Amino acid sequence: MARQLAGMVVAITGASAGIGRALAVDLAARGASLALAARRRDRLDALAATFATPVLVYAADVADPAQCASFIAAAQARFGRLDTLVCNAGYGLLKGAVESTPEEWRAIFATNLHGTLDCIRAALPAMRAQDPVAGWRGQVMIVSSILGRRASPWTAAYSATKAAQLSLAEALRVELRPARIAVTSVHPIGTRTEFLDVAAPGRPVVDDGLRQSAEHVARRMTAAIRRPCPEVWPSRPSRWLTSLATLCPGLADLAAARLARGVAPP
Ligand SMILES: NC(=O)c1ccc[n+]([C@@H]2O[C@H](COP(=O)([O-])OP(=O)(O)OC[C@H]3O[C@@H](n4cnc5c(N)ncnc54)[C@H](OP(=O)(O)O)[C@@H]3O)[C@@H](O)[C@H]2O)c1
Repeated sequence: MARQLAGMVVAITGASAGIGRALAVDLAARGASLALAARRRDRLDALAATFATPVLVYAADVADPAQCASFIAAAQARFGRLDTLVCNAGYGLLKGAVESTPEEWRAIFATNLHGTLDCIRAALPAMRAQDPVAGWRGQVMIVSSILGRRASPWTAAYSATKAAQLSLAEALRVELRPARIAVTSVHPIGTRTEFLDVAAPGRPVVDDGLRQSAEHVARRMTAAIRRPCPEVWPSRPSRWLTSLATLCPGLADLAAARLARGVAPP
């Protein structure tokens, strides 16, 4: 049974740019009530001012567990329930595995993995106590990546966080099913956002024509919020290619080396 988007309460981390912002725009147009978090509050305020639906704007750094907890508490206090929590906040790091410093490894895990887990941990107690709507008490959506299934060179730290998010989603999905809480992981390929400006600052972004729009990814996420499913692959071929890569890792290494020629750090 599909859930009604109008009136649904959705919390989104990382809503000030890119995929999170596009999802907020799509859901607001469909009448959902939104709780939006990011560090750049001015951007969230400007975005919320364009919406006709109820919006809570919250400045939070998800690398800080206390800020995750206070964002979720504020969302649940404002709206009285939380139908879907979208753990989207994250960033990339385009650097060799051992050239990335221990501090860079720890920092990216703090945001991408622990930020995800700390928001989920904060949201679950109240979500478990909610009455089900269309068969679900709630939903946790985790924005991983295609790189969560198969890492590419120069992205070891980032890909490891995305694989960890996928593992979290796979385990949690089965653990939470008896409570009727859905868990959905999202696996975009390269998407036109501010991602590369952060992952490789100062390097010109070459549009290879393969990247998706944030709006396309957002529409696929909205469909999975309406009808919760285990995984969202906004590019269908990428799902089959990564499955093939697990069967033929040597072949996948050759393909990855070829594809990575354009992204290797100077
Ligand atoms: N773009 C791609 O090619 C691609 C592909 C696969 C997966 N993804 C995933 O999609 C998600 C969104 O990325 P995007 O492409 O939309 O990138 P983006 O345009 O750079 O947006 C990232 C968002 O995350 C927020 N954020 C980053 N660190 C944060 C922190 N510590 N606390 C709170 N918010 C934080 C940013 O807000 P503030 O800076 O205002 O805090 C921003 O709103 C990420 O998890 C990324 O790994 C992206």
